[in-house]
Amino acid sequence: MRGLVRETRLGVDDLIWPLFVHELDGDVEVSSMPGVARMGIDSLLRSCERGVAAGLRAVAIFPSIEAGLKDAEGTLALRDDNLVCRAVRAVKARFPDLLVVTDVALDPFTSHGHDGLLNAAGTDVDNDSTVEVLCGQALVQARAGSDVVAPSDMMDGRVGAIREALDGGGHEGTAIMAYSVKYASAFYGPFRDAVGSKVGKDAIGKAGYQMDPANVREALREAALDEGEGADIIMVKPAGPYLDVVREVAAASAVPVAAYQVSGEYSQIKAAERLGWLDGLRARDESLLAIKRAGADMILTYFALEVAEELARRGGG
Ligand code: PBG
Repeated sequence: MRGLVRETRLGVDDLIWPLFVHELDGDVEVSSMPGVARMGIDSLLRSCERGVAAGLRAVAIFPSIEAGLKDAEGTLALRDDNLVCRAVRAVKARFPDLLVVTDVALDPFTSHGHDGLLNAAGTDVDNDSTVEVLCGQALVQARAGSDVVAPSDMMDGRVGAIREALDGGGHEGTAIMAYSVKYASAFYGPFRDAVGSKVGKDAIGKAGYQMDPANVREALREAALDEGEGADIIMVKPAGPYLDVVREVAAASAVPVAAYQVSGEYSQIKAAERLGWLDGLRARDESLLAIKRAGADMILTYFALEVAEELARRGGG
């Protein structure tokens, strides 16, 4: 009876698995994200193989760039031999049917850790010059074979500009998943450890271009703008603390909505589980089901592989 009347189900089709790559061979566990590692490309391929075997359809690849290769302009982001492009090429060559999502933002590549170029005074991110660079970054990623480019920078006007650049470059089929509603959140902390994009204490914060957690109407405005500029998928991030926002954006959008269960949401469950304070597996499943129930069509989550493998064991969930 429970099964017949269940209103929400989480399936493997709902999940996108974020993965971190680095230049080294082998894996280095991210200390603030138990079970998550920065991987060399070989190891990334082995992870994708496991994901595909468990039925996962999509991965999102994030590069961790060595400090010596970063500069204030994030120059490396525009080179098609950079780490993320090499990783995408390797994954698509082995797993052509696995959907690959790549982040369009400069933070892994800038020495200051910001998502864009700073203005001359270094007091803020410069919107318009950043948008130009992001278009170039989206193009090198599309050329490398990325199926979905995901601008996560929060600059205004970037979705339309990226759409135009992709179309102009013959990449009409490359989709845009816009991080439309991205809050200035403490829950990104472990991710910044993972990719080494910590913004210095004395530097300007990211709150200048990420959203105030207090606002919902602004979220609807951001989502509508990106949809109007041609976003194929709208994202809300973080997910768990913003289920009301997921619900409202899903109700207002004509395009599918993704929610990102971010690093801090993952790590707090893992940490409590380690301490013996929570049943980690139940908390994991409940947190993901809640995001789905709120209206997300897809979820980016570091739990993707373990959930997919468990669903596969249970015969599809
Ligand atoms: C930045 C980006 C961030 C995440 C994905 N892309 C973090 C940030 O704004 O510093 C966070 C994801 C997570 O916390 O899991 N381009």
